[in-house]
Amino acid sequence: MAHSVWLLVPLATILFAVNGQLVFNPDRQAPEEKVPLQITFDQTNKAVCPESEGVYEDATFCDAYWVCKNGAATEKFCEDGLVFDPKKAGHADPCDTPHVVHCGTRQELQEPTFPNEFCPRKYGTFEHPDPKVCNVYYQCVNGVHTEVTCATGLYFNSTQGSCNWPAISQRTGCVDKPKMSSDGAFSCPGGTHLDANGIAVPHPSFPNADDCSKFYVCLNGETPQEASCDKGLVFDERSMICALPETVPECEGWYANDPAFAHYYDSAPATGRADPGRQDVAGG
Ligand SMILES: *[C@@H]1O[C@H](CO)[C@@H](O)[C@H](O)[C@H]1NC(C)=O
Repeated sequence: MAHSVWLLVPLATILFAVNGQLVFNPDRQAPEEKVPLQITFDQTNKAVCPESEGVYEDATFCDAYWVCKNGAATEKFCEDGLVFDPKKAGHADPCDTPHVVHCGTRQELQEPTFPNEFCPRKYGTFEHPDPKVCNVYYQCVNGVHTEVTCATGLYFNSTQGSCNWPAISQRTGCVDKPKMSSDGAFSCPGGTHLDANGIAVPHPSFPNADDCSKFYVCLNGETPQEASCDKGLVFDERSMICALPETVPECEGWYANDPAFAHYYDSAPATGRADPGRQDVAGG
C-alpha cells in the first residue's frame, strides 16, 4: 500500500508542472512536514483512529474532524462556514476560515445550517447578493451580518476573502453602488455640479424631496450627509443655500402653519438679506 502512494506523488507533481497553472500543489510537502493523519473505516464502516489519542481530518469533509480518545473516534463539525485546520488540531476550536486553510482533496462541506440573504453560511465573508455590487461585502458571525465597504476603488473577492484592486479581484459586471444617506433615501448623483456663477462645487447640496427645511450635502460629490436649514429657512436647489420660503417657489409658505412663525408671517421683510439666520452651506 505504501508503495503506490510514493509512486503517485511524483506523477502528480509532473502533471501540475505540465499544466503550467498557478495552482497550489497539495501533494508537495516540505520534507519535515508531516502528512496529516486521517480516520479510516473498517469493513463494518466503523471509524478507526490512526493513533489512540488525537484530532484528525475527515477524508472527504473539510468542515468535519474526528476526536480520538482511548482509541474511540467521535465525529465533530466546525461551525457552519468554518473548516478544520490540521495545524490547529491541539486547540479547543481547531476550525478557521477557508481563506487560511487548504482543504486539498477534502472538498465536501456540510449543508448550510442558517442561510439568509446576506449570510449563506453562519460564519464567513460573502459577496453582496447583487453581483453588480462589487465594493460591498458581508461579514457573518453566528448568522448576523455586518456590511463592509471596500476602500475606494477596490472590489471584494469571495475566494480571497478580501478587497483587492479590480485586476486582482477579477470581478465582472461591477456597477459601483452609490453611497446612501443614513436615512436610506438619497444617494449623490454623479457628475459635476455648478453653482450660480458656473463654478464647480466640490461638496454640492441637494434638496430633501420630503422636507423643504432639510437637504443633503455630498461630501466630495459622493458621500451624502444629512443637513437642516436654520428654523424658518428652506433649501433653495438653485443657489444650494438655505433661503426664506417666499424666495423658493416650491417651498413657499412652508412654515405658514407653524405657530412659532405666525408672527413672522404677519411682518416678514420681503428679502432674506436682513435675516441673521441665513446660512451659506454650499462651501462645506
Ligand atoms: C476571485 O479571484 C480569483 C483569482 O484570484 C478568480 O479566479 C475568481 O474568479 C475571483 N472570484 C470572483 C467571484 O470573481
